[in-house]
Amino acid sequence: MKPYLLDMLKQLAILGALHGKVELSSSQLGRKLNLSQQTTSRHLIALEKLGYIKREFGVRKQRISISDKGRRELEKEYEIYRRLFEKKDTVYISGKIISGMGEGRYYTVQEEYVRQFKEKLGFIPFPGTLNIEVDQLDLSKLHFIKSRRGIEIEAFSTPDRSFGSVMCYHASISGLKCAAVFPSRSHYSNIVELISPYNLRETLNLKDGDKVEVAIRLGYHEKSRDS
Ligand SMILES: Cc1cc2nc3c(=O)[nH]c(=O)nc-3n(C[C@H](O)[C@H](O)[C@H](O)COP(=O)(O)O)c2cc1C
Repeated sequence: MKPYLLDMLKQLAILGALHGKVELSSSQLGRKLNLSQQTTSRHLIALEKLGYIKREFGVRKQRISISDKGRRELEKEYEIYRRLFEKKDTVYISGKIISGMGEGRYYTVQEEYVRQFKEKLGFIPFPGTLNIEVDQLDLSKLHFIKSRRGIEIEAFSTPDRSFGSVMCYHASISGLKCAAVFPSRSHYSNIVELISPYNLRETLNLKDGDKVEVAIRLGYHEKSRDS
C-alpha cells in the first residue's frame, strides 16, 4: 500500500472512521494532513477504488467509513509497531514444517514427562512433536533462546532406562498455545520441536514444507498463559 494512502487511512481512523461513518469535507481532511483539497480528493478516490474506504455523498460533505480491507491494512501496521515496542521477551522464529522419525511421540507420552509437563507447563501434550526446521537467518535467535533459562523438565529413570532433561519455553503458533522443547539428548541443532495440548498439524492443517512462524516467550516460568 502506498505510504501516503496509508497515512490518510490512519488519519481517517483517528477521526473515527474505523467504528462508524465520519462526516467531513476533503479540505477539512486535507488540513489535518497538510495536503491541498485537490490532492486529498485524489487520494480519497484512490482509497475508495482500492476498497479501503466506503463513501456516501451529501451536499458538501461526505460520510466516510473504513472497510474490512482497510481495517486489515491498519492492523498489519499495528502488528509491526506492537512487535517493535513490546518487551523483548518474545522471539519470533521462522521455518518450515518437516517430519521427524516419529520418535517425539514415544517421549511425549512417558508418564513422568507427562506429569511434569502438566505441573510445569500447565497442559498435557498431544502425543508427538511438531518439527520446524529453522530458517538459516533465524539460527542465531535459536542459540539466543537456548542461552536463556527456560522451564526445566527434569531427567528421570524407569526400571528400563533413563530419560534426559528437557528445557521448555512457552510459545504459540498461529495463536495456538504450545511449548518449544529442547531435549538435552536431542541430536537436532536447527530444529524446534513443539508440543501442544492440540494436534497442531491437524488443527492448523499443516503439511511438510509449509512456512510457519513461532512466537517463543522468554522469562516466563510460571504456569501456562494463553496467548
Ligand atoms: C519430551 C522429550 C524428551 C526426550 N528425551 C530424550 C531422551 O531422554 N533421550 C534421547 O535420546 N532423546 C530424547 N528426546 C529426543 C528424541 O530423541 C528426538 O530428538 C526427537 O524427539 C525426535 O522426534 P521425531 O523423530 O519425531 O522428530 C526427547 C524428545 C522429547 C520431545
